[in-house]
Amino acid sequence: MAASKPLRIVLLGPPGAGKGTQAQRLVAHYHVPQLSTGDILRAERKAGTALGKEAQGYMDSGKLVPDGLILGLVERELEKGLTGYILDGFPRTVPQAEALDIMLASRAVPLEGVIELTVDYDEIVRRATGRRSCPNDGSMYHLQSNPPKVDDKCDKCQGALVQRDDDKEETVRKRISEYEEKTAPLRPFYEKSGRLKRVTGTGGIDEIFERIKAAIGH
Ligand code: AP5
Repeated sequence: MAASKPLRIVLLGPPGAGKGTQAQRLVAHYHVPQLSTGDILRAERKAGTALGKEAQGYMDSGKLVPDGLILGLVERELEKGLTGYILDGFPRTVPQAEALDIMLASRAVPLEGVIELTVDYDEIVRRATGRRSCPNDGSMYHLQSNPPKVDDKCDKCQGALVQRDDDKEETVRKRISEYEEKTAPLRPFYEKSGRLKRVTGTGGIDEIFERIKAAIGH
């Protein structure tokens, strides 16, 4: 049964940890929108906007996009007046997390908690490098753990599946080191305020979803 209280969480975890996969489940269960800064940046790039062009070089080399660009983008999304949300891939630095608290407090929609998906290094490399997605409807596959029925074709629309530019192994390893250096400090940041819950991100997708719901507690 869907919960009545609006969900307001951050999904934290390294590249390929399963944040996007679990966010889709959470959206369907809790009926709140997913706000993925990675997805928004990719859409901006596709549309050829100034923001997309500025972000491109950072993304393709596995680096984080500067905080100023990201905060402007999130501010724009929050202006839409969300009551609940699943933040996926944001915040990713302590200054982003501090700015987020201020933005949410001013809109009276404070963060309920942060779910960190923990997955070991080899598994996240395997997941990210094997990921394929459909550019038409956003469906996600994995060459080994969740393959499409027909090679390289989306099950739903038959569109040709693509690999993200930043999912080449070398770039994935760079993204992981960015995560360790710049995003891992969010653990003590959220632990200090009692908002961090760690969830084992290995096992079946349904099993992990049940663990996340238990950690959320409603
Ligand atoms: P972003 O798009 O946020 O990428 P990411 O955080 O690196 O996360 P991913 O999308 O790679 O992985 P995921 O955890 O969502 O895993 P998924 O569910 O897809 O960011 C991209 C770039 O944008 C950044 O590098 C940066 O440049 C920029 N950016 C974005 N936000 C920013 C910010 N706030 N600040 C600065 N820069 C920012 O799963 C991965 C694969 O595993 C899939 O194939 C899936 O099918 C499979 N899988 C999922 N769960 C399981 C399971 N349980 N078992 C087996 N396979 C599984």
